[in-house]
Amino acid sequence: KTSNKKVVTGTLALSVFTAVLGSLTFGYNIGVINAPQKIIEEDYNATWIHRYGEPIPSGTLTSLWSLSVAIFSIGGMLSSFCVGFISEWLGRRKAMLANNLFAFAAGSLMGMSKVCRSFEMMILGRFIIGAYCGLASGLTPMYVGEIAPTSLRGALGTLHQLAIVTGILIAQILGLEMLLGSEDLWPVLLGLTVVPTVLQMGLLPFCPESPRFLYIIRSQEHHAKSGLRRLTGRQEVGDMLAEMKEEKRRMDMERKVSILELFRSPLYRQPIVVSILLQLSQQLSGVNAIFYYSTSIFMKAGVQSPVYATIGAGVVNCAFTVVSLFLVERMGRRTLHMLGLAGMCISAIIMTIALALLDSIPWMSYISMLAIFGFVAFFEVGPGPIPWFFVAELFSQGPRPAAMAVAGFSNWTANFIIGMGFQYVADLCGPYVFLIFAVLLLFFLIFTFFRVPETRGKTFDQIAPEMKGAQRFNRFRWYQN
Ligand code: GLC
Repeated sequence: KTSNKKVVTGTLALSVFTAVLGSLTFGYNIGVINAPQKIIEEDYNATWIHRYGEPIPSGTLTSLWSLSVAIFSIGGMLSSFCVGFISEWLGRRKAMLANNLFAFAAGSLMGMSKVCRSFEMMILGRFIIGAYCGLASGLTPMYVGEIAPTSLRGALGTLHQLAIVTGILIAQILGLEMLLGSEDLWPVLLGLTVVPTVLQMGLLPFCPESPRFLYIIRSQEHHAKSGLRRLTGRQEVGDMLAEMKEEKRRMDMERKVSILELFRSPLYRQPIVVSILLQLSQQLSGVNAIFYYSTSIFMKAGVQSPVYATIGAGVVNCAFTVVSLFLVERMGRRTLHMLGLAGMCISAIIMTIALALLDSIPWMSYISMLAIFGFVAFFEVGPGPIPWFFVAELFSQGPRPAAMAVAGFSNWTANFIIGMGFQYVADLCGPYVFLIFAVLLLFFLIFTFFRVPETRGKTFDQIAPEMKGAQRFNRFRWYQN
């Protein structure tokens, strides 16, 4: 059939591109705060002097800075919890559209905080952009997962992560002192976050709403059909509609699934536990210890230009997300996730050995740098991209929004814990801190082996009952085939 050749139509490409602009903004705000720390701190100090006539006490400065960094994940925690409700109320597309208001508010607050001499504006801005990112981290994978054809769901889902890592890299580069990370220009650096947002607002009106949402939730068969036609470029969409019809029929028999229900009902307990643990495996792998604190980690490891090593890590990060993009529909989610976790675990051990030997063998600093690059590379092979889109795959239309909310909340909570806790633990453990991550990685590897099913090439309709079947009959059969 000709239809198989032209899976990616212009409308599908445009819709996915538009959606992942939200992920780009997400990544940008993860990466943006790392390089200009010292310069922004100086401005906090200047504000303090202006207000109180004396320099800021160093403890207060540390607290204000930690708050500026960490409040981002608190915003994300709170808003990700609302993903289910908002995406059902407004629909996926309008929810993304509305979310941009947060980005505007945040970008303006952060961009103006210097002229207004107010670190409160900066902190509030970080909180609001965190809220934007929490919503984007649920809405984007949900929308992309719902409009993607089955055979490309993993590859298109990985684009969410690819946009995140691209955002991180752009922020790392623009944050160099000779570009925007300077005393005068840092407000521009932070305000730039509105650029992808403007673009997204301009493009969203040309993207169709998710046909699954329109048909299964809103019962708008006519609109769903025309969306499907645009996304697939085919006139004849009866087969897809039939698949959705079956899902709708089954969903209409179930009660509406609340978050509590996900944990109570034996039907959903297994997939929600898998979803949460996958999110935890992503964050507790320790990757953000690198992305938030790489510069100081490289410094301790004796690497000569830590800022450029950080950018190096950003480049490796992007490159390997592309690798995963090409592998995910061939090797499957399970295999790649396990490969990534195992590689990270080994890299963490090598890093520890290198750091421990650093004092006696100076060239160990190169080994630890390479180990960090390896750690990041293996992260992007599986644990980076896969958890984001996997949750949308494990659940059918009814429970999906609630599941995305729970998964997102777990992800952001763990993100917050690492962001706040890493430096304290690193001070306590010295070179051995990454052994903690190695142990956690091993645990997640074992968990994935025993509990995570393969979803590649299966329709939502095939995956959900499989999870249920696993509950009722045989836990171990379903991942073996
Ligand atoms: C994932 C994580 C995010 C992390 C990024 C690094 O998207 O969710 O927290 O910073 O990968 O590439």
